[in-house]
Amino acid sequence: MAEPNLQEVHDFLVLIAKRAGQMITSANPTTAGSGSKKNSSDLVTETDRAVEAMVSSSMRAKYPSYSFMGEETYKPGDTLSAAPTFIVDPIDGTTNFVHGHPYVSISLGFAVARQPVVGVVYNPFTSTLYSAVKGQGAFLTDPTHSRTRLPLKAEPEPLEGLNTCLVAVEWGSDRSGPDYDVKARTFRKLCASKDDGGAMVHSLRSLGSAALNLCAVAAGHLDVYWEAGCWAWDVCAGWTILEEAGGMVVDANPGNWEPRVDERRYLAVRKGVGQRALIEEFWACVEGKLEVGL
Ligand code: IPD
Repeated sequence: MAEPNLQEVHDFLVLIAKRAGQMITSANPTTAGSGSKKNSSDLVTETDRAVEAMVSSSMRAKYPSYSFMGEETYKPGDTLSAAPTFIVDPIDGTTNFVHGHPYVSISLGFAVARQPVVGVVYNPFTSTLYSAVKGQGAFLTDPTHSRTRLPLKAEPEPLEGLNTCLVAVEWGSDRSGPDYDVKARTFRKLCASKDDGGAMVHSLRSLGSAALNLCAVAAGHLDVYWEAGCWAWDVCAGWTILEEAGGMVVDANPGNWEPRVDERRYLAVRKGVGQRALIEEFWACVEGKLEVGL
Protein backbone atom coordinates (compact mmCIF):
# COMPACT_ATOMS: atom_id res chain seq x y z
CA MET A 1 0.00 0.00 0.00
CA ALA A 2 1.32 3.48 -0.89
CA GLU A 3 2.35 5.73 2.02
CA PRO A 4 -0.60 7.92 3.04
CA ASN A 5 -0.36 11.53 1.90
CA LEU A 6 -0.88 13.14 5.31
CA GLN A 7 -1.46 16.67 4.02
CA GLU A 8 -4.13 15.40 1.64
CA VAL A 9 -5.77 13.44 4.48
CA HIS A 10 -5.68 16.60 6.63
CA ASP A 11 -7.36 18.74 3.95
CA PHE A 12 -10.02 16.07 3.45
CA LEU A 13 -10.69 15.87 7.21
CA VAL A 14 -11.14 19.66 7.37
CA LEU A 15 -13.80 19.45 4.63
CA ILE A 16 -15.59 16.61 6.41
CA ALA A 17 -15.43 18.45 9.75
CA LYS A 18 -17.12 21.51 8.24
CA ARG A 19 -19.81 19.37 6.63
CA ALA A 20 -20.39 17.61 9.97
CA GLY A 21 -20.46 20.98 11.71
CA GLN A 22 -23.44 22.06 9.60
CA MET A 23 -25.29 18.88 10.55
CA ILE A 24 -24.54 19.45 14.24
CA THR A 25 -25.51 23.13 14.44
CA SER A 26 -28.71 22.63 12.44
CA ALA A 27 -29.85 19.64 14.54
CA ASN A 28 -32.38 19.72 17.30
CA PRO A 29 -30.47 17.62 19.83
CA THR A 30 -32.61 14.90 21.23
CA THR A 31 -31.88 11.58 22.82
CA ALA A 32 -35.40 10.38 21.87
CA GLY A 33 -35.09 7.12 19.98
CA SER A 34 -31.39 6.79 20.89
CA GLY A 35 -31.06 7.85 24.53
CA SER A 36 -28.26 6.48 26.60
CA LYS A 37 -25.81 3.63 26.13
CA LYS A 38 -24.54 2.06 29.36
CA ASN A 39 -26.26 4.42 31.82
CA SER A 40 -28.16 7.71 32.11
CA SER A 41 -25.00 9.84 31.76
CA ASP A 42 -23.65 8.05 28.65
CA LEU A 43 -25.72 9.83 26.03
CA VAL A 44 -26.12 9.37 22.30
CA THR A 45 -28.33 11.31 19.90
CA GLU A 46 -29.61 10.67 16.41
CA THR A 47 -27.16 13.36 15.32
CA ASP A 48 -24.15 11.40 16.64
CA ARG A 49 -25.26 8.47 14.49
CA ALA A 50 -26.09 10.52 11.41
CA VAL A 51 -22.76 12.37 11.54
CA GLU A 52 -20.79 9.16 11.95
CA ALA A 53 -22.64 7.60 8.98
CA MET A 54 -21.82 10.63 6.79
CA VAL A 55 -18.18 10.69 7.92
CA SER A 56 -17.57 6.95 7.49
CA SER A 57 -19.21 6.78 4.07
CA SER A 58 -17.20 9.81 2.88
CA MET A 59 -13.98 8.24 4.17
CA ARG A 60 -14.71 4.83 2.64
CA ALA A 61 -15.51 6.43 -0.71
CA LYS A 62 -12.26 8.41 -0.83
CA TYR A 63 -9.91 5.99 0.96
CA PRO A 64 -11.41 2.50 0.51
CA SER A 65 -8.27 0.70 1.69
CA TYR A 66 -8.02 2.53 5.03
CA SER A 67 -9.61 1.22 8.23
CA PHE A 68 -12.24 3.02 10.25
CA MET A 69 -12.97 3.15 13.99
CA GLY A 70 -15.88 5.27 15.19
CA GLU A 71 -17.56 5.72 18.55
CA GLU A 72 -21.05 4.83 17.41
CA THR A 73 -20.15 1.71 15.40
CA TYR A 74 -17.45 0.33 17.72
CA LYS A 75 -18.13 -3.20 19.03
CA PRO A 76 -16.50 -4.53 22.21
CA GLY A 77 -13.43 -6.51 21.17
CA ASP A 78 -12.68 -4.36 18.09
CA THR A 79 -8.97 -3.52 18.15
CA LEU A 80 -6.85 -0.88 16.51
CA SER A 81 -4.58 -2.46 13.87
CA ALA A 82 -1.36 -1.06 12.41
CA ALA A 83 -3.16 -0.23 9.14
CA PRO A 84 -3.87 3.43 8.32
CA THR A 85 -7.02 4.08 10.35
CA PHE A 86 -9.47 6.94 10.70
CA ILE A 87 -10.43 7.27 14.37
CA VAL A 88 -13.59 9.32 14.71
CA ASP A 89 -15.85 10.77 17.35
CA PRO A 90 -18.81 12.33 15.50
CA ILE A 91 -19.76 14.45 18.51
CA ASP A 92 -17.31 14.74 21.37
CA GLY A 93 -19.22 16.43 24.15
CA THR A 94 -22.59 14.80 23.53
CA THR A 95 -23.79 15.74 27.02
CA ASN A 96 -23.00 19.39 26.31
CA PHE A 97 -24.72 19.09 22.93
CA VAL A 98 -27.88 17.76 24.55
CA HIS A 99 -27.85 20.60 27.06
CA GLY A 100 -27.14 23.33 24.51
CA HIS A 101 -23.73 24.02 26.06
CA PRO A 102 -21.43 25.01 23.20
CA TYR A 103 -18.27 23.06 24.23
CA VAL A 104 -18.79 20.43 21.52
CA SER A 105 -16.58 19.15 18.75
CA ILE A 106 -16.18 16.69 15.97
CA SER A 107 -12.92 14.82 16.42
CA LEU A 108 -11.30 13.33 13.30
CA GLY A 109 -8.02 11.51 13.87
CA PHE A 110 -5.83 9.44 11.61
CA ALA A 111 -3.30 6.89 12.86
CA VAL A 112 -0.63 4.90 11.06
CA ALA A 113 1.10 2.01 12.82
CA ARG A 114 -1.17 2.90 15.80
CA GLN A 115 0.49 6.34 16.04
CA PRO A 116 -1.69 9.45 15.68
CA VAL A 117 -0.38 11.44 12.70
CA VAL A 118 -3.21 13.78 11.61
CA GLY A 119 -5.80 15.49 13.78
CA VAL A 120 -8.73 17.80 13.07
CA VAL A 121 -10.98 18.99 15.92
CA TYR A 122 -13.76 21.41 15.02
CA ASN A 123 -16.19 23.20 17.32
CA PRO A 124 -19.04 24.20 15.00
CA PHE A 125 -20.71 26.42 17.62
CA THR A 126 -17.67 28.71 17.91
CA SER A 127 -16.34 28.02 14.38
CA THR A 128 -12.91 27.21 15.79
CA LEU A 129 -10.81 24.57 14.13
CA TYR A 130 -7.69 22.94 15.55
CA SER A 131 -5.57 20.86 13.22
CA ALA A 132 -2.17 19.27 12.82
CA VAL A 133 -0.12 16.99 10.61
CA LYS A 134 2.77 15.15 12.24
CA GLY A 135 5.98 17.11 11.71
CA GLN A 136 4.16 20.20 10.37
CA GLY A 137 3.05 22.02 13.54
CA ALA A 138 -0.40 22.60 15.00
CA PHE A 139 -2.76 25.44 14.13
CA LEU A 140 -5.90 27.17 15.31
CA THR A 141 -8.14 28.59 12.58
CA ASP A 142 -10.57 31.11 14.06
CA PRO A 143 -13.99 32.20 12.75
CA THR A 144 -12.36 34.93 10.63
CA HIS A 145 -10.24 32.18 8.95
CA SER A 146 -7.07 33.57 10.47
CA ARG A 147 -4.61 30.74 11.17
CA THR A 148 -2.34 30.85 14.22
CA ARG A 149 0.38 28.40 15.19
CA LEU A 150 -0.01 26.66 18.54
CA PRO A 151 0.76 27.17 21.32
CA LEU A 152 -0.63 30.70 21.24
CA LYS A 153 2.34 32.00 23.24
CA ALA A 154 5.45 31.14 21.25
CA GLU A 155 7.44 30.78 24.50
CA PRO A 156 4.96 29.69 27.18
CA GLU A 157 5.77 30.29 30.84
CA PRO A 158 7.79 27.54 32.54
CA LEU A 159 5.74 24.85 34.27
CA GLU A 160 6.88 25.63 37.78
CA GLY A 161 4.58 23.33 39.70
CA LEU A 162 1.00 22.17 39.97
CA ASN A 163 0.23 25.08 42.26
CA THR A 164 0.51 27.35 39.22
CA CYS A 165 -1.66 25.18 36.96
CA LEU A 166 -5.20 25.19 35.64
CA VAL A 167 -6.10 21.51 35.34
CA ALA A 168 -8.91 19.80 33.40
CA VAL A 169 -10.34 16.55 34.71
CA GLU A 170 -13.50 14.71 33.70
CA TRP A 171 -15.98 12.75 35.80
CA GLY A 172 -16.84 10.48 32.84
CA SER A 173 -19.89 8.24 32.83
CA ASP A 174 -18.65 5.42 35.10
CA ARG A 175 -19.88 6.56 38.49
CA SER A 176 -19.00 3.62 40.72
CA GLY A 177 -16.17 1.18 41.32
CA PRO A 178 -12.49 1.49 42.21
CA ASP A 179 -11.55 3.90 39.40
CA TYR A 180 -14.30 6.29 40.44
CA ASP A 181 -12.79 6.37 43.94
CA VAL A 182 -9.28 6.93 42.54
CA LYS A 183 -10.58 9.86 40.51
CA ALA A 184 -12.55 11.49 43.32
CA ARG A 185 -9.65 11.15 45.79
CA THR A 186 -7.18 12.49 43.22
CA PHE A 187 -9.41 15.50 42.47
CA ARG A 188 -9.47 16.28 46.20
CA LYS A 189 -5.68 15.93 46.50
CA LEU A 190 -5.07 18.18 43.49
CA CYS A 191 -7.17 20.94 45.00
CA ALA A 192 -6.28 20.59 48.68
CA SER A 193 -3.97 23.11 50.32
CA LYS A 194 -0.28 22.27 50.68
CA ASP A 195 -0.79 22.25 54.48
CA ASP A 196 -3.24 19.39 54.01
CA GLY A 197 -0.87 17.47 51.72
CA GLY A 198 -2.51 18.67 48.50
CA ALA A 199 -1.12 20.21 45.33
CA MET A 200 -3.20 23.42 45.59
CA VAL A 201 -3.75 23.72 41.82
CA HIS A 202 -5.19 27.05 40.69
CA SER A 203 -8.42 25.19 39.96
CA LEU A 204 -10.03 22.21 38.25
CA ARG A 205 -12.21 22.40 35.14
CA SER A 206 -14.60 19.72 33.84
CA LEU A 207 -15.55 20.94 30.40
CA GLY A 208 -16.96 17.78 28.80
CA SER A 209 -15.02 17.22 25.58
CA ALA A 210 -11.77 15.29 25.71
CA ALA A 211 -10.83 16.45 22.20
CA LEU A 212 -11.33 20.12 23.04
CA ASN A 213 -9.50 19.65 26.35
CA LEU A 214 -6.44 18.38 24.47
CA CYS A 215 -6.67 21.33 22.06
CA ALA A 216 -6.95 23.73 25.00
CA VAL A 217 -3.76 22.24 26.46
CA ALA A 218 -2.14 22.58 23.02
CA ALA A 219 -3.18 26.23 22.85
CA GLY A 220 -2.08 26.92 26.43
CA HIS A 221 -5.56 27.75 27.74
CA LEU A 222 -5.15 24.82 30.13
CA ASP A 223 -1.88 23.56 31.60
CA VAL A 224 -2.84 19.94 32.28
CA TYR A 225 -5.63 17.46 31.46
CA TRP A 226 -6.06 14.10 33.21
CA GLU A 227 -8.66 11.47 32.37
CA ALA A 228 -9.27 7.73 32.63
CA GLY A 229 -12.11 6.00 30.82
CA CYS A 230 -12.29 7.86 27.53
CA TRP A 231 -11.50 6.16 24.23
CA ALA A 232 -9.16 6.38 21.24
CA TRP A 233 -11.76 8.38 19.27
CA ASP A 234 -11.89 10.99 22.05
CA VAL A 235 -8.12 11.58 21.97
CA CYS A 236 -6.59 10.54 18.63
CA ALA A 237 -7.09 13.86 16.81
CA GLY A 238 -6.21 16.04 19.80
CA TRP A 239 -3.10 13.96 20.46
CA THR A 240 -1.40 15.01 17.21
CA ILE A 241 -2.46 18.61 17.79
CA LEU A 242 -1.01 18.62 21.31
CA GLU A 243 2.26 16.92 20.37
CA GLU A 244 2.75 19.26 17.41
CA ALA A 245 2.23 22.15 19.84
CA GLY A 246 5.08 20.86 22.01
CA GLY A 247 2.88 19.13 24.58
CA MET A 248 3.08 15.56 25.86
CA VAL A 249 0.61 12.74 26.46
CA VAL A 250 1.57 10.10 29.04
CA ASP A 251 -0.37 7.52 31.05
CA ALA A 252 -2.82 8.69 33.72
CA ASN A 253 -1.24 6.05 35.98
CA PRO A 254 2.31 6.80 37.13
CA GLY A 255 5.32 5.46 35.25
CA ASN A 256 4.33 4.92 31.62
CA TRP A 257 5.74 7.67 29.43
CA GLU A 258 4.52 6.14 26.15
CA PRO A 259 0.86 5.14 26.35
CA ARG A 260 -0.97 3.68 23.37
CA VAL A 261 -3.65 5.82 21.77
CA ASP A 262 -6.22 3.22 22.90
CA GLU A 263 -4.82 3.01 26.46
CA ARG A 264 -7.94 4.78 27.90
CA ARG A 265 -5.83 6.59 30.55
CA TYR A 266 -4.21 9.89 29.67
CA LEU A 267 -2.31 12.77 31.23
CA ALA A 268 -1.64 15.70 28.89
CA VAL A 269 0.69 18.59 29.66
CA ARG A 270 1.28 21.75 27.65
CA LYS A 271 4.57 22.92 26.20
CA GLY A 272 6.90 24.52 28.73
CA VAL A 273 10.19 24.13 30.55
CA GLY A 274 9.64 21.72 33.45
CA GLN A 275 7.18 19.45 31.63
CA ARG A 276 8.65 16.16 32.83
CA ALA A 277 8.98 17.33 36.45
CA LEU A 278 5.35 18.47 36.38
CA ILE A 279 4.28 15.03 35.13
CA GLU A 280 6.18 13.38 38.01
CA GLU A 281 4.52 15.81 40.46
CA PHE A 282 1.10 14.96 39.02
CA TRP A 283 1.72 11.23 39.15
CA ALA A 284 2.57 11.57 42.86
CA CYS A 285 -0.97 12.93 43.38
CA VAL A 286 -2.73 9.94 41.79
CA GLU A 287 -4.47 8.25 44.72
CA GLY A 288 -4.34 4.58 43.70
CA LYS A 289 -4.07 2.63 40.45
CA LEU A 290 -6.59 3.16 37.66
CA GLU A 291 -7.77 -0.17 36.24
CA VAL A 292 -9.53 0.90 33.07
CA GLY A 293 -7.65 -0.21 29.97
CA LEU A 294 -5.31 -2.55 31.89
C1 IPD B 1 -16.96 12.05 26.24
C2 IPD B 1 -16.28 13.37 26.45
C3 IPD B 1 -16.05 13.61 27.91
C4 IPD B 1 -15.25 12.50 28.54
C5 IPD B 1 -15.89 11.15 28.28
C6 IPD B 1 -16.11 10.96 26.80
P1 IPD B 1 -18.60 11.77 24.16
O1 IPD B 1 -17.15 11.80 24.86
O2 IPD B 1 -15.05 13.40 25.77
O3 IPD B 1 -15.31 14.77 28.12
O4 IPD B 1 -15.20 12.69 29.92
O5 IPD B 1 -15.00 10.15 28.77
O6 IPD B 1 -16.74 9.72 26.59
O7 IPD B 1 -19.37 10.66 24.81
O8 IPD B 1 -19.22 13.09 24.39
O9 IPD B 1 -18.29 11.48 22.75
